Amino acid sequence: MPRFYVTTPIYYVNDAPHVGHAYTTVNADALARWHRLVGDEVFFLTGTDEHGAKVAEAAAEHGMSPQEWADTVVQRFLGAWRDLDIANDDFIRTTEPRHHHAVQAFLQRIYDNGYIRLDTYTGLYCVSCEDYYTPEQLVDGKCPIHGRPVVEMEEENYFFELSRFEDRLLRWYEENPDAIRPATKRNEALSFVKGGLKDISITRTSMHWGVPVPWDERHVFYVWYDALINYLTAVGYGADEERWRLWWPAVHHLIGKEIVRFHCVWWPAMCMAAGVDPPAHVFVHGWLLVGGQKLSKTLVRQQADSADADDADDAADATDAADRPVRLTEIAPQALTEDFGVDATRYHLLRDVPFGTDGDFSYEGLVSRYNADLANNLGNLVARVATVVGSKCGGIGPAPDPESALAEVAGDVVSSAADAWARIAPHEALEQTWRLIGAANAALEAAEPWKAEPGPAVDAVLGDALEVLRLVSLLVSPAMPATSTEIWRRIGLDGGPQDRRLPADAAWGGYPGGVPVEKGEPLFPRRKA
Ligand code: ME8
Ligand code: MG
Repeated sequence: MPRFYVTTPIYYVNDAPHVGHAYTTVNADALARWHRLVGDEVFFLTGTDEHGAKVAEAAAEHGMSPQEWADTVVQRFLGAWRDLDIANDDFIRTTEPRHHHAVQAFLQRIYDNGYIRLDTYTGLYCVSCEDYYTPEQLVDGKCPIHGRPVVEMEEENYFFELSRFEDRLLRWYEENPDAIRPATKRNEALSFVKGGLKDISITRTSMHWGVPVPWDERHVFYVWYDALINYLTAVGYGADEERWRLWWPAVHHLIGKEIVRFHCVWWPAMCMAAGVDPPAHVFVHGWLLVGGQKLSKTLVRQQADSADADDADDAADATDAADRPVRLTEIAPQALTEDFGVDATRYHLLRDVPFGTDGDFSYEGLVSRYNADLANNLGNLVARVATVVGSKCGGIGPAPDPESALAEVAGDVVSSAADAWARIAPHEALEQTWRLIGAANAALEAAEPWKAEPGPAVDAVLGDALEVLRLVSLLVSPAMPATSTEIWRRIGLDGGPQDRRLPADAAWGGYPGGVPVEKGEPLFPRRKA
């Protein structure tokens, strides 16, 4: 059975989850669900990055120890993923003992292999990035990503000799042209390496919130150095040799574009240094950017409403915030799920921002996508078919026509959607799926079974539409698990789409006919803009 191992970045617990985190996590979840549907053995990992100066700072600001703070904020992530129907197989926290063991085992290997040395480091450090910058990289003397002042740091540190991996990395990119996608990001990593690599400082003595260095207890590992190893910890590195070798290196790391250098340069080099194969796939996606002003007002207010009632400061901040443009990091996934529902939120995240490029995130965009695709297309098809089956077929769904013209469209849609999921292009997979929904709606409009006399012609048209709903339910199940299960139930099928296997169960003609069809509440009531 093929294996599919997919990961999200592990998110910092300095602050609560936002829509950007939800974007990666929902995409990973949909991919995992797709691979389960085609019968792969799947391991889907997400989690939290709990060490480092950024988290320690946030904890101090709230008068808590870093561990207490992490224990609090991790609940927000767990809650957000529960709300979004995320079916991860594991959730890793970097403060767990299993992770400390794996990090120590992995880095001890690199040390023993002679790629780590002690030296003094001076540099400009951004605490938000947990990274050093050269003076040329700064913008107006500040961090180019966060716009906050950098601090001068001098430390005696252990260094990872990254510079010794230039040739090996270049060869790796060369021999594995698909390891980093899209190609623009591969080229970015490539030119970074060609520009020359410096050794990196991987330990800290200035702070203690990290994994202790096994050969020198005065030091803890630099947060990025422990974080990347989570992907190996979770499959049993250092604890269960047989298990991690089953899943590694055929992993799919999904990451945002700001952490390419860590995942596409450092991480493969670290693996090489430890005698482990580099990750087979790193897929880099773009950023969601906030557009419309309306989004800010509506969503920030909702966030204020749902914030802890006793946290007057937060509520006041959020009210002020209604008068200025909002940042994406201020939008909680919950604000979307409460307003639009879980599946519509998931659908929007998967459908509207092609995985790989930046995308505009706006309230108007959400509403118009919701109305066009979910209310007018999918929701309408489900409602219409159930109504007419009720009035013309006594509520019993007829079987499809094996020779239906829709069979060809369906076959084509199933194979192109499968191809798109396999290429990590959920937006295309869904676009293809909607082609089938559109074709079924058009066929109904042409035949107008609601005006016709009951009989074989009406039965055939409705049977075809029910078969389309069965197929659509299968195809959208990775994106909208609850909706697809509900459609499945309403058209009288047993179990759920997730119990089926593609491609076998997606062959035209699987709808049995002779089963009761239920007309329920509208799945996606139309929204006012
Ligand atoms: O970087 N659009 O954690 P982080 C799309 N702990 N995705 C976004 C986004 C946006 N506007 N904002 C955030 C870290 N993301 C490290 C990772 S991995 C070993 C350590 C998503 O909390 C995207 O996946 O800053 C991005 O890479 C991730 O959140 C960064 O989360
Ligand atoms: Mg970040």
